[in-house]
Amino acid sequence: MRIISSIQEMQSYSESIRKQKKIVGIVPTMGFLHDGHSSLIRIAKQNADIVVTSIFVNPTQFAPHEDFDKYPRDIERDKNVSSMAGTDVLFIPDVKEIYLENYTTFIEVEKLSSILEGKFRSTHFRGVTTIVAKLFNITNANIAVFGQKDAQQAILIQQMVKDLNFDLRIIVAPIVRESDGLAMSSRNVYLSASEREDSTVLYQSLQIAKTMIENGEHHSSTIISEMIKLIKSKPSTQIDYVSIAKVSSLDEVTNFQKGNCLLISLAVRVGSTRLIDNIILTI
Ligand code: PAJ
Repeated sequence: MRIISSIQEMQSYSESIRKQKKIVGIVPTMGFLHDGHSSLIRIAKQNADIVVTSIFVNPTQFAPHEDFDKYPRDIERDKNVSSMAGTDVLFIPDVKEIYLENYTTFIEVEKLSSILEGKFRSTHFRGVTTIVAKLFNITNANIAVFGQKDAQQAILIQQMVKDLNFDLRIIVAPIVRESDGLAMSSRNVYLSASEREDSTVLYQSLQIAKTMIENGEHHSSTIISEMIKLIKSKPSTQIDYVSIAKVSSLDEVTNFQKGNCLLISLAVRVGSTRLIDNIILTI
């Protein structure tokens, strides 16, 4: 596995690969890699000749009060994990080279960036779309793999790719979970033992929603109340939102009908750790 940190070296390496008519895949990450990230790298490998995994804890997607400084980092471990999963190039750029002094250009996907997660993290998606667009330009990738774990992020990026005519295909990969259902996340290391136990209600509440819908319930409010009841039964939890929305627009739905493709998503603080999770259901 080759390790590249310079933008110029990454661009010329990609150019040489593309000249050989080979497919370049990119898996953007913020590191502290887990099996969720590895699954993305494996999917990229099935769809590309050369897989670039990037590790960059992107300051512009964190608000000043958020966890940028304490975000978990372990580059040596990440080198092993990414190489084992099939990464050909590990791209680890320097923040000073990504955001030069007097950096002023940002990409904003309107509407989609201000709902759900955007209501609680108002500048988050502007940072995400900006860094992802930069990574697309730097790696000149043909395909890019993102996780459904961050469903709204994947939807926004697909919108950006369409709106700005990026010549690349997005693949959205399924959520990888721990054996008790908790979605894998770099932030799970923040959880104390009791918070870790409490956090299983997130996935359980999504399963309740799935069962209710399968049993014919079609009022969002009834389903959301049951989900909230379960989550609130754990004292360490505080709910930011529980939402049932159309995947296509992220517009919340009150009643749904056959054929609807729904994103049931939530954000819950467990102690001081903010966790997100979701399922997608077609009824
Ligand atoms: P990060 O949280 O490191 O996630 C990198 C990619 O891994 C994202 O596409 C995310 O959805 C996916 N992922 C995380 N946990 C997963 C899981 N349990 N199962 C499957 N996929 C999972 O998302 C980001 O970084 C950043 O916002 C980034 C896109 C890199 C821009 O900075």
